[in-house]
Amino acid sequence: MSEAEKQGGGLVSLTSWLKSDPMGTCGVDGCEIEVGEAAESAAKSESSRVDGIDHKGQAAAKSAKVILPGSTIGILGGGQLGRMMANAGSAMGYRFIALDPTPDAPCGQVAEQIIANYDDRDAAHELAKRADVITYEFENVDAGVAAMLMEESYVPQGSELLYTTQHRLREKRAIEAAGVKVAPYCEVGNVDELRAGVAQFGLPCVLKTATGGYDGKGQWVIRDEAEIDEAFETLNRAGTELVLEQFIRFEKELSVIAARSPQGEIRTFPAAENIHIDNILHLSIVPARVDETVQREAERLAARIAEGLGAVGLIAVELFLTADGELFVNELAPRPHNSGHYTMEACRTSQFEQHVRAVCGLPLGDTALLTPVVMVNVLGEHVEPLLERMAVIDEAADRLGVAPKVHLYGKHEAKHKRKMGHVNVLAAQVDDALAWITETNIWRA
Ligand SMILES: Nc1ncnc2c1ncn2[C@@H]1O[C@H](COP(=O)(O)OP(=O)(O)O)[C@@H](O)[C@H]1O
Ligand SMILES: [Mg+2]
Repeated sequence: MSEAEKQGGGLVSLTSWLKSDPMGTCGVDGCEIEVGEAAESAAKSESSRVDGIDHKGQAAAKSAKVILPGSTIGILGGGQLGRMMANAGSAMGYRFIALDPTPDAPCGQVAEQIIANYDDRDAAHELAKRADVITYEFENVDAGVAAMLMEESYVPQGSELLYTTQHRLREKRAIEAAGVKVAPYCEVGNVDELRAGVAQFGLPCVLKTATGGYDGKGQWVIRDEAEIDEAFETLNRAGTELVLEQFIRFEKELSVIAARSPQGEIRTFPAAENIHIDNILHLSIVPARVDETVQREAERLAARIAEGLGAVGLIAVELFLTADGELFVNELAPRPHNSGHYTMEACRTSQFEQHVRAVCGLPLGDTALLTPVVMVNVLGEHVEPLLERMAVIDEAADRLGVAPKVHLYGKHEAKHKRKMGHVNVLAAQVDDALAWITETNIWRA
């Protein structure tokens, strides 16, 4: 054992991990290690975890860097995802600085914050100057700012992943190119194309704006031909392309979060079963109540997409499962995802730690599920009843074996339907957790 190894710590084993490659040419330079062939070799060995996939990671691996703890991670966006990323990464020894226009944003409360609009070039310039590596917590990053940051800073996720996932049509084409199915769709440029699409897919079908939609906004479920004109007029006002999708009569909605490092290592978290109310995520149930073969297949598809898109960092994959066991991808998000919040207590590594590991080029963490869990979202209207219960919430441990874990994001105003926090309800079985959630009456409609 070398002297350095005797001193122990993850940092030392990381440097030996990098140096263990006989071809490696790693040189330690402050907090940053440039890895060339070492990373390429890691990519070759690690990506063999994913069966049957063309390994494209090697080219990107040439420019992979390892950003060690002590370095500063810049985040575009300062919401709850940034906050939880900063909490996880701070525990690993990283520093964080977020760019967000809202003073005292959720992430700004636990990290430094530059208060400025996302398209403010001077602010982005400052972020680039103060951070060793840059990531983002939302996908609608201004293209000009993204290009500028790529030029001035290290953005391991690149701009292509953003370009693809910012636009539903580009995203669907990329998923198909990775050999994974999406719901049948067509591009809609005018009302005649919409009419033709409706004739092709039948009713109901879903018209969506190609960019800018979230929580069901920017969509119209067309149930009757009489709605065609109004649906087109309304969504066309957004001034973006439109896409029409066949309505999938899904049995369940699932999601899988995959992580990929610049060296090409890929790991997936266990599939979550998601229940939405009014298009906003209400519950994530893990393990998903589907056959294990379906869980494995969903995870395999997510890994395939991460590989096919050459993603770095997290990529969340939302899927529809039909009654005859078919899986269609609905959409992607190149960042931590609400349906992955369950990992914070239920997995050996949280999605936030995994994202930090991935963008910093560290080996990815173990994604094993430690316990069944149900994540329930706390929206504005749930905050008061939840806080009233805080003093007694641990009593649930008598029933569940372990107390539910409450996470709140520090948002100032508890607006109706606004995501304010979540509770991870751990239990011996997901049914016990679901029963507790119902009985609290906090989430009554
Ligand atoms: N093609 C479809 N068939 C059936 N349901 C759909 C379809 N597209 C969307 N939905 C429903 O609407 C929800 C929100 O749609 P999604 O495309 O994920 O947009 P958002 O960006 O708002 O999450 C989905 O979670 C699903 O419940
Ligand atoms: Mg969605």
